[in-house]
Amino acid sequence: MAVDSAEQAPAQPPRTHAPAAAALPEELTPDTVRPHPVQPESPRQESQPKPAPSGAMPEEAVREAGSGGAGSLPPEVPVSAALPPEVRAEQEPADPPPAAVADPNASPDAVLVRRTLAEIGPVSDQVTSYFYSLLFVRNPDLRALFPVAMDAQRDRLLKALLTAAEHMDSPAILTDYLRHLGRGHRKYGTRATHYPAVGEALLGALSRYAVGTWDDATEGAWVRTYTTISQIMIDAAAENEQHAPAWWQAEVVSHERRTADIAVVTVRPDQPYPFRAGQYTSMETPWWPRVWRHYSFASAPRPDGLLSFHIKAVPAGWVSNALVHRAGPGDVLRLGPPVGSMTVDHSTDNGLLCLGGGTGIAPIKALIEDVAEHGHRRRVEVFYGARHDQDLYDIETMLRLQSEHPWLAVRPVVAEGPSQGLTGRLPEAVRDYGPWHEYDGYLSGPPGLIRSGLDALRGVGIPSERIRHDSLEELLAAAN
Ligand SMILES: Cc1cc2nc3c(=O)[nH]c(=O)nc-3n(C[C@H](O)[C@H](O)[C@H](O)COP(=O)(O)OP(=O)(O)OC[C@H]3O[C@@H](n4cnc5c(N)ncnc54)[C@H](O)[C@@H]3O)c2cc1C
Ligand code: HEM
Repeated sequence: MAVDSAEQAPAQPPRTHAPAAAALPEELTPDTVRPHPVQPESPRQESQPKPAPSGAMPEEAVREAGSGGAGSLPPEVPVSAALPPEVRAEQEPADPPPAAVADPNASPDAVLVRRTLAEIGPVSDQVTSYFYSLLFVRNPDLRALFPVAMDAQRDRLLKALLTAAEHMDSPAILTDYLRHLGRGHRKYGTRATHYPAVGEALLGALSRYAVGTWDDATEGAWVRTYTTISQIMIDAAAENEQHAPAWWQAEVVSHERRTADIAVVTVRPDQPYPFRAGQYTSMETPWWPRVWRHYSFASAPRPDGLLSFHIKAVPAGWVSNALVHRAGPGDVLRLGPPVGSMTVDHSTDNGLLCLGGGTGIAPIKALIEDVAEHGHRRRVEVFYGARHDQDLYDIETMLRLQSEHPWLAVRPVVAEGPSQGLTGRLPEAVRDYGPWHEYDGYLSGPPGLIRSGLDALRGVGIPSERIRHDSLEELLAAAN
């Protein structure tokens, strides 16, 4: 899986590191920042220099990459992208974008970075395509780390940088986000020595498309920003390597079809898998190598160490269909590390108001088990939503839990009756009950449910900081 990073690490000190470490904005400089590890680490790298990356990609090389030999399928590159910048500058308006940065407290680097992002926003698809073409043409070995088809997720790196840039001046949020990202990258086989190649491709793509705003100062700001971001990711991965594997192998021990398109899949990890109820993991199946998807744990940690997931096969979905229709006992999956903050806050006595739609009920069930195990009984009120009664695939389990725990109430809500429970939409059903001001909110399900649920819970008096849900960004990326 992992490639020999020394093979592809640019020997030439990359543009992305030289001036950077010294000039990190003070508020973003974690104590951990060392001289950037993207500097050549081994004599081999220094003694076998690759040709310095050329700023302008030869058009035919890019085209070749775009049409791709089988197995290396960088996305198409627009012809204009392969033109020298001066030619493109004539074709395209070079006006700087409208005031990209209104925040008067933004650091100078944040101002410049956000200006670039504002300029490339309308052409981010092309920037992404060009970025990957540059990356794979210059570093063919890196192609093997990525899935064969990358359409669904290929803009996420750029989006992550956008998120990072947005939070440039909030180091705590930024660091937390990037540390998760860095740890999660271990499962892809990413190594510290890969970062300069990505940085160079990024700068190459940005400078080609941000023609209106790109200058030396902007390049300097991007070098420092990328260096900071990568350093946090690299450090988090290195620290995580001390105590956790890059991934877990997990053998399917049971596969239970609940409906035509929903299965409960239970796996046994090859080594202990620590996680918290309400979190989720990433999963790769043997049928779609390097294609990872997120799935929530359907139980709190169990004494036997088994992990269960509720999987719904979505139309034409690669991984979900493989898991529902193909997987069976004996198949071995790979799991990434646990993520997510939709966990029970055990420091409060507040009740839990939980809205779960579809397979979103799975982590809610895990939260109930967590509350039960903690012994300190708190009110838990669950609104379980689905389109029809027959879609409430886990209602029996939920009603069993309700009969076992006097502090738990479960209310099924279906959009289209007839129903033995409530009819209507989840948020409206919640408004009919209450009062809720002494409850914390938990939302789990499709992005639309999270959004409407957030409005509803705020509307019934639960402040935003007491509402937990999975990342809306991740959910939208999955659904789009
Ligand atoms: C934090 C998080 C937790 C998740 N937990 C679970 C879980 O516990 N159980 C579960 O089944 N899924 C869960 N998902 C969704 C899951 O990660 C995948 O997105 C889903 O299984 C589809 O993957 P796929 O490879 O089958 O489809 P893809 O090949 O990625 O998509 C194929 C097509 O289906 C569309 N599509 C994707 N998702 C949906 C959807 N939900 N409904 C309709 N169309 C869709 C896509 O737009 C695309 O057109 C979770 C997602 C996130 C972000
Ligand atoms: C600052 C640097 C980087 C950032 C911000 C970044 C960000 C991201 C993000 C947000 C994703 C989406 C999936 C996820 O959240 O895990 C992703 C996926 C991925 N990244 Fe990175 N990344 C960086 C560097 C690298 C490097 C150096 C490599 C190694 C070459 C790499 C390889 C991958 C791979 C293989 C995937 C999976 C792609 C897919 O599933 O389609 N990344 N990256």
